[in-house]
Amino acid sequence: MAASREKFGRMGVILALAGSAIGLGNIWRFPYMVGEYGGAAFIIVYLAFAFLISLPAFLAESLIGRKAGKSTYDALESLAPGTKWKWLGLLAVLGAFIITSYYSVVGGWSLDFLARSVVRGFDSANPESAAAVFDRMTASTIEPLLAHALFLGFSCMIIVLGVKKGIDRFSKVCIPLLFVLIVAMMLFSLSLPGSKDGLDYLLKPDFSKLTPRGIACALGQSFFSMSIGMGVVLTYSSYMKKQQKILSTSVLTLIFDIFFAVISGFVVMPAVFSAGLRPEAGPSLVFESIPYIFAQMGAASPLLGRVMAIGFFLTILIAAITSEISMIESCVSMLMERLHWGRKKATWVIFCAALLLGCWCSLRSNVFSFCDFVSSNVFMMLGALAFTVFAGWKMERSALKAEFTNNGRLKLSSALFGGFYFLLKYLVPPAILVIFFTNLL
Ligand code: PHE
Repeated sequence: MAASREKFGRMGVILALAGSAIGLGNIWRFPYMVGEYGGAAFIIVYLAFAFLISLPAFLAESLIGRKAGKSTYDALESLAPGTKWKWLGLLAVLGAFIITSYYSVVGGWSLDFLARSVVRGFDSANPESAAAVFDRMTASTIEPLLAHALFLGFSCMIIVLGVKKGIDRFSKVCIPLLFVLIVAMMLFSLSLPGSKDGLDYLLKPDFSKLTPRGIACALGQSFFSMSIGMGVVLTYSSYMKKQQKILSTSVLTLIFDIFFAVISGFVVMPAVFSAGLRPEAGPSLVFESIPYIFAQMGAASPLLGRVMAIGFFLTILIAAITSEISMIESCVSMLMERLHWGRKKATWVIFCAALLLGCWCSLRSNVFSFCDFVSSNVFMMLGALAFTVFAGWKMERSALKAEFTNNGRLKLSSALFGGFYFLLKYLVPPAILVIFFTNLL
């Protein structure tokens, strides 16, 4: 079995990991949080957390995955046979499954809005009428369910194609496209009259807004954005070749993710302020305010408004699909290995289960919020804690070092190992615990 395990190409694994990292979290959550918790002050804390806590946590998960060459549950079982660690792995994958379900509901909304931009554009009368489109769509029964099913179905089709022909190939096309799209959108957004207020909102450091809650959110957001603690990084890394440099792969993923988040801020906020709107939380920001902005623009130049709306929702859709497939793969790969199922069968089962849970999330907003809350505040945190404690305290230092440095062949990694190991052991686990309890209270 292990010998026939598929492998990513060198660039493929970087783009697939970046694809998992770059997602809805970057586009709608990051810009909002930056504004809410003190602009540049928040960005500084976010960057410090990203390099000091998220990066070691990401590396730990990646090292476990590549060393074991197995998906989450079996990886932990094979590295610590007969122990209970595998159950924590199962918990992490369960978290990935929950996110898969509600994430595809939001993915469905972006598909729906992309279709609307193509077919008829948006109403420019006032911000309320744009918001009403979103409210009507989410309140209706069939339309969001259909969009959710289509989004999930398409993502599952990529998974059925496999690691190399599906995920690798799809990421190689989509990630470069995403960067072109987001940079083009940013240039456009910054050229709008009044966009400077949006920049001020993002960049003015205001340390008084940087509350303990804001600090906890920075770490939670960084974990979510880097797809940590869900077995996703572990599973993708299990398809990584042994000669791949884990450290540079992880650093590149982190840089791509941060770059995309910051640029998204430069797309969303200048546009929001230019239209005289106020930024607000959650998906509503991009689904309610942005259509209005493009519609207004469309009043002056219909073609431009239409093209920008299509570009924007296409960006969200692609970013959401590349994240969605990583979560599905985390679940599918575990089912395949544990139950000796074929890829098709495992994908069908996840499709049906996620379809059902997603429908429930779509129909009941309290179920949606609950799934979001438990997956990002409980499962993700416990998963991240489990992987870092496992790599830092359970695995042999020499085994971890051998994996980190490709058996001592990588000079820079060898020099940096001590620092990484120190952070992994002594800084990351307590930091996760502090954030975990802050988020629950
Ligand atoms: N990183 C993705 C985002 O920013 C979400 C995600 C979370 C993907 C956990 C996989 C696992 O939107």
